[in-house]
Amino acid sequence: MPVGLEAISVYIPRYYLDTEDLARANGTDPLKYKVGIGVQQFSAPAPHEDSVTMAHEAALALIRNYGVDPDDIGMLIVGSETGVDAAKPIAAYVHGLLGLPSNCRTFDTKHACYSATAALKFARAWCGGASRGRKALVIASDIARYEIGSPGEPTQGAGAVALLVSDQPGLLIFDEFPEAFYTKEVMDFWRPHYRATALVQGELSIESYLTTLESTFLAYCGNSGLKWDDFDCMLFHVPFPKMASKAYKRLCEMEAGDGAGRSVDELLRQFDVRTRPYLTANSRTGNLYSGSLYLSLADLLETEGVRAIGRRVGLFSYGSGCCGEYFSGVVGPEAEACRGKIGLERALADRVALSHHDYLRFRKAAEEMACNDSFYQNLSCRKGHCPSCSAFLGIEDNRRLYCVPNQTETCLRLLQTPRTGRPYIVAAR
Ligand code: HMG
Repeated sequence: MPVGLEAISVYIPRYYLDTEDLARANGTDPLKYKVGIGVQQFSAPAPHEDSVTMAHEAALALIRNYGVDPDDIGMLIVGSETGVDAAKPIAAYVHGLLGLPSNCRTFDTKHACYSATAALKFARAWCGGASRGRKALVIASDIARYEIGSPGEPTQGAGAVALLVSDQPGLLIFDEFPEAFYTKEVMDFWRPHYRATALVQGELSIESYLTTLESTFLAYCGNSGLKWDDFDCMLFHVPFPKMASKAYKRLCEMEAGDGAGRSVDELLRQFDVRTRPYLTANSRTGNLYSGSLYLSLADLLETEGVRAIGRRVGLFSYGSGCCGEYFSGVVGPEAEACRGKIGLERALADRVALSHHDYLRFRKAAEEMACNDSFYQNLSCRKGHCPSCSAFLGIEDNRRLYCVPNQTETCLRLLQTPRTGRPYIVAAR
């Protein structure tokens, strides 16, 4: 039975910082960020946004846009490395905010940026066996934050991608070849529990990414019998767009070294067709961590529509620490019909640029909200930023409070916001 993606939806925060403004503030040549790293802008989440609200927004869009019956969702898995609680999963909050049925399995997965791929693989196995026709909702949701002024700062980002996995894979049918993964314990990138920002050994992280790619691609081609020309598109985990070009180049070197008769330069030219067109969204959002590979896939499906149908897409997922996997799928017949439902182009067109000053204010407010038991103060901090979205209201009595504007039967408490008088329903108490 074919299994794959039936639906995909994206949530991108409304605010962004242009890397030119960041470069000016950091005393760096903007070309280093724009060309050297390839990031034009990055998402700067508002203080009321976190991995829960973004996951909820992406999933809500998927359910609404594709007309999914929530009773059909038998599994909800969130892949994230920026969870909000050491014990309670993001998936439990999202399950409550969405009002999904109780006969649904929920949990989070974690292995840095590989987490959503681990979730996808679990969902795929379930949909190919015990699901009895029910569907799995996999959500990748993360906020990437590095220290201010650090080399990682221009590669920050945020957003969520929701993927519906089922035995009706209208968007992407997974190829059923033996799997190709790789693990090696390495300190290339990490974030201890007591830190809000990640630590990284830049060069080591790049080398570890490339070694993992080499190993998994070789294994995948060996296992499947697929050759270089069988891949119409090649998508990668995108911590920053230049990394995807480094990855593609490494594959070209392997292919050229294989004695297949083509030069690296000749193979490199295919980058403009196979990969580059699908890095546009990544270059405007920054690193989505777990969602970055799937953002690239969403970009491909939305950009190409009918032209993508039948094309084989190679996908490389990498998570620091590290674990990686190479897999592939063939774009399904619904690619054209689903174009308007992904929501990526709309989300990018609808954004507002922040000043560098406001970007710093947002960061500070988010840090304060994450550890203060100061509920009402936090409401005013959120005021006016995004009234139509679900929102993290703050922490009260050591519990995180979320609201969804004026809807849903999952409510436990109705709240009048003191400043706006807008009624909110607090869902996760
Ligand atoms: P850096 O060390 O400051 O940058 O930060 P650099 O000096 O290496 O320069 C970067 C590029 O800009 C170079 O190009 C320069 O030549 C060029 P390259 O040689 O690489 O082709 N450059 C310029 N170009 C034009 N005009 C100029 C100019 N100046 C320089 N004036 C670093 C780079 C990657 C270290 C930093 O961004 C960083 O720490 N990023 C975070 C770590 C990361 O993203 N690693 C990637 C692999 S690990 C991964 O993907 C996992 C991850 O997503 C986490 C997870 O799994 O959860 C991060």
